[in-house]
Amino acid sequence: MFIVMVSSELAPVAKVGGLADVVFGLSRELEIRGHAVEIVLPKYDCMWYDEIWGLHKIADNLSVPWHGSSVNCSVWFGFVHGRKCFFIEPHSQDNFFQRGSFYGFHDDPMRFAFFSKATMEFMLKFDKRPDIIHCHDWQTGLVPVLLYEIYARLGMDRQRVVYTIHNFKHQGVTGEAVLWGTGLCRPEYFFHYDRLLDNFNHTAINLMKGGIVYSNYVVTVSPHHSWEARFTDQGYGLGQTLAIHHYKFGGILNGVDYDLWNPETDRFIPSHFNVWNVEGKYANKDALRERLWLRKEFKPIVAYVGRLDAQKGVHLIQHALFHALEKGAQFVLLGTGGDRGINNHFWHLKHYLNENADCHLEIGFNEQLAHLIYAGSDLMIVPSLFEPCGLTQMLAMRYGSVPVVRAVGGLVDTVFDRDHSDKPPELRCGYVFHDADFPAIESALSRSIGLWYNYPKEFRRLVTNAMAMDYSWAQSGTHYLNVYEQVRCK
Ligand code: ADP
Ligand code: GLC
Repeated sequence: MFIVMVSSELAPVAKVGGLADVVFGLSRELEIRGHAVEIVLPKYDCMWYDEIWGLHKIADNLSVPWHGSSVNCSVWFGFVHGRKCFFIEPHSQDNFFQRGSFYGFHDDPMRFAFFSKATMEFMLKFDKRPDIIHCHDWQTGLVPVLLYEIYARLGMDRQRVVYTIHNFKHQGVTGEAVLWGTGLCRPEYFFHYDRLLDNFNHTAINLMKGGIVYSNYVVTVSPHHSWEARFTDQGYGLGQTLAIHHYKFGGILNGVDYDLWNPETDRFIPSHFNVWNVEGKYANKDALRERLWLRKEFKPIVAYVGRLDAQKGVHLIQHALFHALEKGAQFVLLGTGGDRGINNHFWHLKHYLNENADCHLEIGFNEQLAHLIYAGSDLMIVPSLFEPCGLTQMLAMRYGSVPVVRAVGGLVDTVFDRDHSDKPPELRCGYVFHDADFPAIESALSRSIGLWYNYPKEFRRLVTNAMAMDYSWAQSGTHYLNVYEQVRCK
């Protein structure tokens, strides 16, 4: 099959969170299985250009209809760790992708509506006729709308769209200008409950809803979250739309790229190890302490790696930090986020704890340090309020860091509590708590730190159980291929 991925992120060149990892990992898996995959991305000024091989311009004159006129775009091609990527660079005064960061601008819906439109024009004019167009999140929700309403009539009638929703919280709720910009026009037609009309704001359209309504299949990133999205408030207002389209909606657990994230070969960690030789892990713990100026003492290291966002349960992260220190552990945090208030809060916390030799907060995005933290820590907390899938717990397990997680979304599908689970003992690989309050996380953390101090052999067994879990792309790749096979035009 020929698959075109349309995404606003791709690891490692344009990564904010797990979306980037998933687009890379799934594309790689599909290619390994013999399918042709091409990825279309915006050409951001803030990408990691060092990670793009052979970047060159392939066209200077892609004219994209926009607001009744047109915007001239350049198209670039390059390989990102072997993946074939096309980058769209618009030349207009809006400077859509020359903003120094990926998201966070008042016109984000317009920026990505343009990207969706430009991607369709690119495929049309460059004779790309994939079996499957695979779109991700609200940023590309307009692609299936444009395909069905405009481009099918221009010769793209055999293309089918699979739409993966990584995060229901951000939906691209916006005004009618996007319709005029992209040539969809007809607000009276699109502002309709069965199409793009937002379910709650009747003066707005919802790009993610458009993606759901117009795609041939909709996936969210774990089976448990597909249930939550439909039957709890975690669909953020789209539960009813999912109910209407339930026959084409399902959950597929994300995988982790086991080549990139491999403790046996990882180029970012000083000591390699595997499930048969966990000893090797502990030199990384020393290296982590040295790197972050933590004192060398017989203590477990509890870590948090992730965005600093309300989604991640920031009050629980902070509480876990103090509780871990109180229980005789060290604590390491690596994170950053788009919310200035939350970021500032953690900067204050960092200054407050500056002199503490058992604790380090690193505010920023640092891929290499993330690898070292997974490899060097003993426990990894993921106390999310909601978590469609979550990669951190799977990465932590791969590197023998035992996850302590809240029972939501993909965390339910991937982490099984050591003491309270119906799974056989060899599949119990972490600690799970339910309520989003202090006693709940305290109890799970105390159990885990207690095991580390009092039953080291048992703790070691938990580490090897975690490392032995298989969350590679092998299974998830098969599930996605089944979906592609089901919807493609035969
Ligand atoms: P989300 O997509 O909601 O951010 P995931 O758990 O799915 O959460 O994915 C997070 C990914 O981003 C992981 O690969 C994690 O290691 C990485 N990551 C998050 N924050 C940082 C950071 N500050 N520095 C380096 N990597 C980070
Ligand atoms: C999202 C979710 C996260 C998921 C990631 C990749 O941003 O918050 O749970 O793992 O996308 O699908």
